Amino acid sequence: MMGVNGQMVSTIAIDGPAASGKSTLAKKLASKLGYLYFDTGVMYRAVTLAALRHGVPVGAEEAVSEIAQKLDLDVRPPSVKDGRQYDVIMDGEDVTWEIRSPEVDRNVSQVSMYAGVRDAMTKLQREIGARGAVVMVGRDIGTVVLPDADLKIYLDASVEARARRRFEECVSRGESPEYEDILEGMRKRDRIDSTRELAPLRPASDAIIINNTSLSVEQALEEVLELIVSREDPV
Ligand code: CDP
Repeated sequence: MMGVNGQMVSTIAIDGPAASGKSTLAKKLASKLGYLYFDTGVMYRAVTLAALRHGVPVGAEEAVSEIAQKLDLDVRPPSVKDGRQYDVIMDGEDVTWEIRSPEVDRNVSQVSMYAGVRDAMTKLQREIGARGAVVMVGRDIGTVVLPDADLKIYLDASVEARARRRFEECVSRGESPEYEDILEGMRKRDRIDSTRELAPLRPASDAIIINNTSLSVEQALEEVLELIVSREDPV
């Protein structure tokens, strides 16, 4: 079936664990194809930040779910040149960097376990997906959010390579993190994300698994572009 603009590959799902390089790859891919780049992790992070700000304990499932249902969230093209890929606006306030804080990192996986939170986010994500011409990034896009996506990529990398990447991102923002803390936090988040009952992190049965541990951004992009060409122009 043809997607928008006569393209066969119109909805692209990219899933994988924290800091596997999904965002960088998806952003480049979307700009190459002229598609919307949508990072669903932003939404779970915003719900977490809102709960922390309202003083709602992240263990309070009902209260956190209510926050998710009422969240006023907008993701727009970047307005500031400070390395951001988009503006995240929550209740009219720019929270683009705040949703990357260590406190949000520590709590986001618990918030993401709740059915009320996932239902609200999944609904919004499907509305965006239904318009096509989108590269959507997350943990459950190929398995739950867009099970009919035209192309599903599962981008993996060793936990050490991922922690190193996240460490360098923090340093480049002027923070002074400990590598060991980042590694430990990432292991913990992986564990919660992949063992949760609802929409756990795992490759869809029809996903193409790419190991990004020792690929450059350009190499990973090249692999995905080749997959798209081979699907649009099967020999
Ligand atoms: O940027 P990073 O890979 O560290 O994380 P993220 O993509 O911003 O996602 C943060 C957290 O949100 C994940 O650890 C998951 O707990 C949750 N998440 C999810 O449950 N489902 C998604 N589709 C995206 C994120």
